[in-house]
Amino acid sequence: MGLLDGKTALITGAARGIGKAIALKFASEGADIAFTDLVIDENGQKTVAEIEAFGHKVKAYASNAANFDETHQVVADVLAEFGHIDILVNNAGITKDGLMLRMSEAQWDAVLTVNLKSAFNFTHAITPVMMRQRGGSIVNMSSVVGVSGNAGQSNYSASKAGLIGLAKSVAKEMGPKGIRANCIAPGFIISDMTAKLPEEVRNQWVQQIPLRRGGTPEDIANVALFLASDLSSYVSGQVINVCGAMNT
Ligand code: NAI
Repeated sequence: MGLLDGKTALITGAARGIGKAIALKFASEGADIAFTDLVIDENGQKTVAEIEAFGHKVKAYASNAANFDETHQVVADVLAEFGHIDILVNNAGITKDGLMLRMSEAQWDAVLTVNLKSAFNFTHAITPVMMRQRGGSIVNMSSVVGVSGNAGQSNYSASKAGLIGLAKSVAKEMGPKGIRANCIAPGFIISDMTAKLPEEVRNQWVQQIPLRRGGTPEDIANVALFLASDLSSYVSGQVINVCGAMNT
């Protein structure tokens, strides 16, 4: 018996990294998996094969989470293919860091659109589905810097704070329909996103973490499993920091 037997999960930006770890974790607990990414290349196909190995249905969709129409089409396609959608993880995200004085409008717009508007797009498309089903769990991938702020990341921090406001509002609006919405706020997680930071910057981050290590995508996937499953059936409108006590 898996914690997600009979459920279908839709995870955005899951060809690699944290999203992929969540997809694998959910499949290992019995869920069928639909995931999106900008392109489904060799890497994405490898992710499909790894999920398939758990013996559940999986389909990957090439789609830009920032695009309202594409997103609504993906949700319609997933519904047609899987029959129901019980879990949404708004995971797709990017960084375009820069100090405020040097930040371009393009940097701001790109990060807000991909990180925050994408979650609106998917939530907007999926809530009618979940309302008809009289239940569902939405998990937004925020960040500790969405709670605390971070020099050089005003665009990213604002987008991640926005995801918290979105989840808390959806939790209040949709709670009576049985829909829960929560956020995970990861700290410093080892993935392609952080691998591009210079080694000295990565070491500085780890020095600030009381547990003295970067988190793994699996650390995040374990909390996503909790929030997606009935283990958290009375948890909604919350933010769970998963950061080795870095920012608590
Ligand atoms: P990653 O860069 O390894 O993976 C992000 C995935 O999202 C990629 O597969 C990428 O192609 C996809 N993506 C980007 N733009 C997209 C779009 N417009 N439409 C669809 N897919 C798109 O990053 P990682 O580390 O796995 O991050 C996942 C989420 O966790 C992000 O939202 C990130 O902001 C968040 N996060 C990561 C932390 C870290 O330390 N790695 C810390 C806090 C939050």
